[in-house]
Amino acid sequence: MVLDKDLAQPGAGKTYFVLNYGCQMNESDAEHYAGQLEDLGYAKAADFHDADVIVVNTCCVRESAEKRILGKIGELKRVKENHPGQIICVAGCMAQKDGEKLIKKHPQIDLLLGTAHVNSFKEILADFIADKGGRVYDDMAIPDSEFEGNRVRQSGFSAWIPIMYGCNNFCTYCIVPYVRGRERSRSIENIVEEVEQAVAKGYKEFTLLGQNVNSYGKDFGEKGMFAKLLRRVNEVPGVERIRYMTSHPRDMGEDVIRAVAECEHVCENFHIPFQAGSSRILKLMNRGYTREQYLELVEMIRRYVPDAAITTDIIVGFPGETEEDFEETLSLVKEVGFDAAYTFIYSKRSGTPAAKMDGQVPLDVKKARLNRLMEAQNVNSLARNKEMVGKTYEVLAEGPSQNNAGVWCGRTRTNKLVLWPTEGREFTAGQKVNVKICAAQTWLVKGQAE
Ligand code: 5AD
Ligand code: SF4
Repeated sequence: MVLDKDLAQPGAGKTYFVLNYGCQMNESDAEHYAGQLEDLGYAKAADFHDADVIVVNTCCVRESAEKRILGKIGELKRVKENHPGQIICVAGCMAQKDGEKLIKKHPQIDLLLGTAHVNSFKEILADFIADKGGRVYDDMAIPDSEFEGNRVRQSGFSAWIPIMYGCNNFCTYCIVPYVRGRERSRSIENIVEEVEQAVAKGYKEFTLLGQNVNSYGKDFGEKGMFAKLLRRVNEVPGVERIRYMTSHPRDMGEDVIRAVAECEHVCENFHIPFQAGSSRILKLMNRGYTREQYLELVEMIRRYVPDAAITTDIIVGFPGETEEDFEETLSLVKEVGFDAAYTFIYSKRSGTPAAKMDGQVPLDVKKARLNRLMEAQNVNSLARNKEMVGKTYEVLAEGPSQNNAGVWCGRTRTNKLVLWPTEGREFTAGQKVNVKICAAQTWLVKGQAE
């Protein structure tokens, strides 16, 4: 490694751009790539075309994501032809999955970084520039320390805080455990330190990230650690809002729900993916709960936190899903009345058990089911949003609305998107504003600042 003492500055006078795809964990990793590039002296380019270093941070959770990313990698071949010396790094989940194959097929890629190398990107890039080291880093050996270095946060008031990495669940449709390895938790002290540092820089909202936050700390051999962590972060002076994702219904215990109910700063928003409404399909998915158990969980949440917003993820067209199974998904959506749902068409991921299952569902059937599901959920979303009309909510202001001049937007504690006219008043991102809601739509509500 060429970098040990005061870091050399191979990026002095040069620029970088990070193109990010995928989930919040990837967004968090992307901030670490940017932080390391700035450590090396690179400055953010206004546009990726002109950057001296481009990092493509990839996702492979569904085929559609992979297709989009491969299209971008193809585009970068032409971009690089006009920029001799440009360095293209492909990082993240797809890099981990396809490794060497990707670089052979797309020789415009200079460096390939799997998910275990976020931490060592700076050294790897410096070695590459100094003509040392290799081009492919896709081994899954986990470095001693998970990432805690410099990061360039996208938001000025809301911070991602990874609390654990990897996943042990092995849901049969999911590629994540294969590309992100086994669960590793960060220590509470380490997490709290990152939160405190961010508070000192003016951050107010903190989203604790993990593929299954409810199993936080199990690798330390202790139980109930996630509820303890929520309570601990809640005590950090200056923290105003705490969010977390993603929860697994099997591991979400009463202790966590009580922590949400009792901690002033933990938001009343439960994102609990149920994936399928039929217990038979849930079993085939290896989810570890039944429809009835899921409904009991929802009931418990509503008992402790009556005003909670509940959101979910749903997959349609899992292998073997019959019309009756799908109707159970529809009926569960109607019964719970989710505030929002992220709905996906099952995507076959080679290497996962479901890819080899009988009864793969034709695409036209999957699409028709998805449409019916979205229609049912849209009715719920609108109904839930209409319940907000006439009430006043604490909104954390995000910034001016992209599409409407003179309008600001922000989010309630329940994570609803709120728009309000500024009417000549000044607002700042991260400011708390009380907004009285006067109109509801499916995806947002509108109101007046008080
Ligand atoms: N096909 C479709 N959706 C998937 N998800 C995960 N794997 C797949 C797949 N193979 C969805 C799940 C998960 C969300 C992040 O992505 O609903 O909760
Ligand atoms: Fe995130 Fe999963 Fe996509 Fe990786 S594969 S970026 S963990 S959603």
